[in-house]
Amino acid sequence: MVTPLSFWLFRCIRSLLFLLPAETSHEWGLKGLELLRRWHLLWLIRPRIAPLPVRVLGLAFPNPVGLAAGLDKNADYLDALGALGFGFIEVGTVTPKPQPGNPTPRLFRLAQERAIINRMGFNNLGVDHLVENLKRRRYRGIVGVNIGKNLTTPVEDAAQDYLACLRAVYAVADYVVVNLSSPNTPGLRALQFGEPLARLLRLLKDEQQALMQATKRRVPLLLKVAPDLSEAEVREIARTVLRESVDGVIATNTTLSRAGVEHSPQGNEAGGLSGAPLTQASTTVLYHLWDATSGRLPLIGVGGIMQGADAAQKGEAGASLVQLYSGFIYRGPTLIRECVRALKALRHSP
Ligand SMILES: Cc1cc2nc3c(=O)[nH]c(=O)nc-3n(C[C@H](O)[C@H](O)[C@H](O)COP(=O)(O)O)c2cc1C
Repeated sequence: MVTPLSFWLFRCIRSLLFLLPAETSHEWGLKGLELLRRWHLLWLIRPRIAPLPVRVLGLAFPNPVGLAAGLDKNADYLDALGALGFGFIEVGTVTPKPQPGNPTPRLFRLAQERAIINRMGFNNLGVDHLVENLKRRRYRGIVGVNIGKNLTTPVEDAAQDYLACLRAVYAVADYVVVNLSSPNTPGLRALQFGEPLARLLRLLKDEQQALMQATKRRVPLLLKVAPDLSEAEVREIARTVLRESVDGVIATNTTLSRAGVEHSPQGNEAGGLSGAPLTQASTTVLYHLWDATSGRLPLIGVGGIMQGADAAQKGEAGASLVQLYSGFIYRGPTLIRECVRALKALRHSP
C-alpha cells in the first residue's frame, strides 16, 4: 500500500515546486530530495514497492521500472533517486567535456497536457565529474550511463566523443547507452541511419570487446532511438543493431512532433516533447523494433508512461524493462509502484 502520507506529501511538495519556473523547480526538487536523504526522511515519500525480479542484459534487476536519462545528468543525486524504489537508474547524457547547454529558458511544463518540452542541449559537467560521483556512490543498484557528444565536436568526429565516454565510464557503469536521438544537438539524429550508424556501432563494439578483455567484465552497450522514425527506418536500425551485436535498444527519446499540444501556449517552443502526447508514437516504435528483431533483443520502453497501464502496454509491445521521466515529474514515486504492479499483473496474466 502507498501510505496516504507519502502520496499527499508528494502532492504538496509538487504544488509548491510547480509555482516556480520549470528548470528552477527541477533543481530545487532534486536538492530537496538530497536533503531528505541526508536527514533520513526519504521514507516519507517512498512508496512500498513489491519485488519483481527480472534478469535482462546479464543483469539482475530488483524490478523492471527504471529512471530515464536526463533527470540526473551528472549522477549528483544518485543516492537519493536510487532510494525511491526504482529498479535501476540511468544517468547522463554525459559528454567528454563539460558544456553549458542551450540558453535558458529551455525547459517548459505543459501541465494540462501532462507533457514537457525541453531543449536542454546536453548541459553537463563532463564525464570525469560523473565518474567521480559513480565511484563515490552509496547506491548499490544498477546504474546505466547515457553518453553523447559535445556540441563543438563535428558530427563527422562524433565517434571520438562516444569512444572517450565509453572508455571513461566502462569500469563504473552496469550498462552504457549510445544516445543518437536527442533532438537538441544539431545533426545527432542523422547518425541513426545507414553507414554512419553501422560504422559508429562497430567502433564502439570493438572498444567494448577490448575493454572487456582488459577488465574481465562485460558491460552491455545499448542504443537509444528517436520516436520520429518510419517503420522502414526502424527495420533498418534493427538490422544494423543485430548485425553489429548491440546488446539492446531503448525506445524512445523525445519527439519533434507537436501532436497533442497544438493548443498549449507553450506548444510551439522548440525542443523535444515528452509525456502523455508521446505514449503511442513511442510504443509503436518499440513494437516495430520487437517485431523486426523477432523478440531476440532486450528492449527498454520509455516515452509517455503516465500510469501503470502505459507500462503494461510497453511490456505487451516487447519491453523487458521500462523507464520513467515526465510521468515521474507529474506523479512522483507513486508511479513506480503503480508500474511495478501493472507489470506484475501482466506477467501473471495468461
Ligand atoms: C528535461 C529532459 C531532459 C532529458 N535529457 C535527456 C538526456 O540527457 N539524454 C537522453 O537520452 N534522454 C533525455 N531525455 C529523454 C528521456 O530520457 C525520455 O526518453 C523521454 O523524456 C521520454 O520519456 P517520458 O515521456 O517518460 O518523459 C530528457 C527528457 C527531459 C524531459
